[in-house]
Amino acid sequence: MQNVLITGGAGFIGSNFIRHVLENEPEVSVINLDALTYAGSLENLKNLPAPDRYQFVHGSITDRNLVEMLLRENEIDTIIHFAAETHVDRSIHGPAEFVDTNVVGTFVLLESARTIWLDKMGRALDDLRFHHISTDEVFGSLEPDDPPFSETTPYAPNSPYAASKAASDHLVRSYGHTYGLPYSITNCSNNYGPYQFPEKLIPLMISNAINGLPLPIYGDGNQIRDWLYIEDHCQAIRDVIRRGSPGETYIVGGDLQPTNIEVVKTLCEILDECLPGSNHLPHESLIEYVTDRPGHDRRYAMDISKINRELDWKPSHSLSSGLLKTVEWYLENQDWVAAISAQGDYQDWIKTNYQARGGSK
Ligand code: NAD
Ligand code: DAU
Repeated sequence: MQNVLITGGAGFIGSNFIRHVLENEPEVSVINLDALTYAGSLENLKNLPAPDRYQFVHGSITDRNLVEMLLRENEIDTIIHFAAETHVDRSIHGPAEFVDTNVVGTFVLLESARTIWLDKMGRALDDLRFHHISTDEVFGSLEPDDPPFSETTPYAPNSPYAASKAASDHLVRSYGHTYGLPYSITNCSNNYGPYQFPEKLIPLMISNAINGLPLPIYGDGNQIRDWLYIEDHCQAIRDVIRRGSPGETYIVGGDLQPTNIEVVKTLCEILDECLPGSNHLPHESLIEYVTDRPGHDRRYAMDISKINRELDWKPSHSLSSGLLKTVEWYLENQDWVAAISAQGDYQDWIKTNYQARGGSK
C-alpha cells in the first residue's frame, strides 16, 4: 500500500479513514475520488495531518475514463472502495441511485482495475489490492436465537440498499475468482463517531436532543444493531489490507448488541450530564415512537472471531466510551452540523422521511 485511491473519502467513514491512514502510514499517498453527493463534504477533510500526501478529485466512480486515468497516471496499487449510497430509508424512497452507484459504480471500478492492473500494465499481483467496504446488512435479519453473522452466513439482503451492497460484494468476489484480481472485503456493522451525516440514528438523536426536537424511534425500538466506533473500523480496514490474505472476507463489529431504545436512552443520559443547564431535561422526555421502517431488519450480531484470530484485531471502545466521545465531538462541532445540515436536500429529506410517520412535529 503506497499509492492509494480512496473512493467516497468525503463521507463519514472515508474521511475518518483518510485521517487515520495519513496519521499512521507515513509512506502512503492518497487520492480521494468523491462525487460530493448530499452525504459528502469537503468540511470533513479540513486540517488533514499530511496535506502534501493527499489530493482530492471531484468525480464519480461511474466515470470509467476518469477512474482509468487516475489508476494509470498515479500508479495506484491499492483501491479502497467506500463510495456508496448508504441510507436504508432513502433506498426505500428511491432505490435507483443505489443500483447506479453501488452496483454499476463498483462494476466500473472493477473493470478499470482489471484493464489497467491486469491487462495493460501487467502489475505484480502481490503489490495490488482492491479492498471493498461492505456491510452486515447483506446477511438479512437474525431471529432472537440465531448465531451471529460470520464469513459463511448466506446472503439474504432485505432492503434495496442491502441488495445493492450484496450485488457489489458478489461482483468483487467474481473478479477475484475469474480474473485473479487481488481483493479483500470487510462486512462491518453500524459505525458511529465524528463526521457522521446527521440523517443516521446516533447523530440525528444528538442533534434533535440538543435542539429540543422529538427523538423518533421506529416501531417498538427493540431492534438490535451491533455498534462499532469509527476509529476501530479504520484500524480493522488497515489491518486487513496490510496483513489479511487476498481473496478473504472479514466480519468486523463491536461485539455488542443493544436495542435502539437502549442506545437512545444512553445518549440522553450522556447529554443530561454534558448539558446540565439545558431547557430540555431530561432529554429522554423527547422520545417519540413513530411508524416503523418498512421491512425493518430486527436483529444483527457479529462473530468477529476470524479477524481476531488471524489479525489480532478487536474493538478498543465500549459503547459507553464511544458514545461519550461522539456526543462530546458533536457538542464541540455544532458549526459543522449546521454547515452539513444546510447541504443539498437535507431539510426536504427530513420532511419526506418523518412527516408521514405520525410524530408530534
Ligand atoms: P456516507 O453516506 O457518509 O458517504 C458516502 C460517500 O460516497 C460520500 O462522500 C459521497 O459523496 C460518495 N459518493 C456517493 N456516490 C458516489 C459516486 N458515484 N462516486 C464517487 N463518490 C460517491 O457513507 P459511509 O457511512 O461513510 O459509508 C461508507 C461505506 O461503508 C459504504 O460503502 C457503506 O456501505 C459502508 N458501510 C457503512 C456503515 C455505516 O454504519 N455507516 C457500516 C458498514 C459499511
Ligand atoms: O449495519 C450497517 C449499516 O448501518 C450500514 O451499512 C448503513 O450504511 C448504515 O446507514 C447503517 O444502517 P441502519 O439502517 O442500521 O442505520 P440507521 O442509523 O439509519 O438506523 C439505525 C437503527 O435505528 C435502525 O434500526 C433504524 C433505527 N432508526 C433510525 C433512524 C434514522 C430509528 O429508530 N429512528 C430514526 O430516526
